[in-house]
Amino acid sequence: MNGLSLTGRTALVTGGAGGIGRAICADLAALGARVLVADRDAAAARAVADEHGGAAFEVDLADAASIDAFTADVGPVDVLIHNAGVSIVEPFTESDPANWDLMWRVNLRAPMQLTRALLPGMTGRGWGRLVFVSSDGARAGSGGEGAYAATKAGLFGLAKTLAREAAAGGVTSNVVCPGPTDTPMVRAVAERHPGLLDKLARQIPLRRIGRPDDVAGLVAFLCTDRASYITGQTLSVSGGITMQ
Ligand SMILES: NC(=O)c1ccc[n+]([C@@H]2O[C@H](COP(=O)([O-])OP(=O)(O)OC[C@H]3O[C@@H](n4cnc5c(N)ncnc54)[C@H](O)[C@@H]3O)[C@@H](O)[C@H]2O)c1
Repeated sequence: MNGLSLTGRTALVTGGAGGIGRAICADLAALGARVLVADRDAAAARAVADEHGGAAFEVDLADAASIDAFTADVGPVDVLIHNAGVSIVEPFTESDPANWDLMWRVNLRAPMQLTRALLPGMTGRGWGRLVFVSSDGARAGSGGEGAYAATKAGLFGLAKTLAREAAAGGVTSNVVCPGPTDTPMVRAVAERHPGLLDKLARQIPLRRIGRPDDVAGLVAFLCTDRASYITGQTLSVSGGITMQ
């Protein structure tokens, strides 16, 4: 099939050292992109970058000054994957506003700040891809994830607005919503709730929780030229647990 190559493109993946981010880096590199891995875990980011002949950047996405220093240094980016995220699970009425602030900064403010810095280069060159990794928790609601879901739902409005504003510059903007996916983020929650993963799997029509590769395949496809007529969309990768 033609139109799937990303050779000559530079792709930045935030949270590229994590479970889903690592799989996205692998798929983008396999399509020929030069991959830039941005993460607060510098050693893990370097390991992923080395595996794919890319470059690693240590950046704290909770810190606006760290993002500014990073965008001043990173150079042209054609594909921007907003994948980094933090989830702090607690009943909303008992939730700590300090945790709201952290999730707002990493999950929503950082994508806004990065896009503001890097999108003009894409539209100026006439080609670009924005992909926002949100969550089915934001589409359908998820117990204990009120603040997280609020920050992730903010990405829907941002991505759709950017799809309209950047279309003339050859840039598409889409959202991918994983359902429960087997990564360190979910394992950390499952450790506190034994049996959770099996219970979730039984509720999913395809009868298993997701794998990072499931999410990465769609993210990578949205970055290719074959997806150039898809913009402003929100797509779930969740084994059918949410259907919208
Ligand atoms: N795993 C799931 O079930 C699931 C479900 C829905 C949505 N998501 C979303 O998918 C994305 C990837 O999640 P994952 O499961 O791979 O998580 P993960 O914890 O494995 O990876 C997250 C990555 O983000 C990085 N990160 C976190 N805070 C950062 C910061 N302040 N600065 C820089 N980097 C930071 C971490 O170091 C890590 O490498 C997240 O946005 C998450 O909200 C995951």
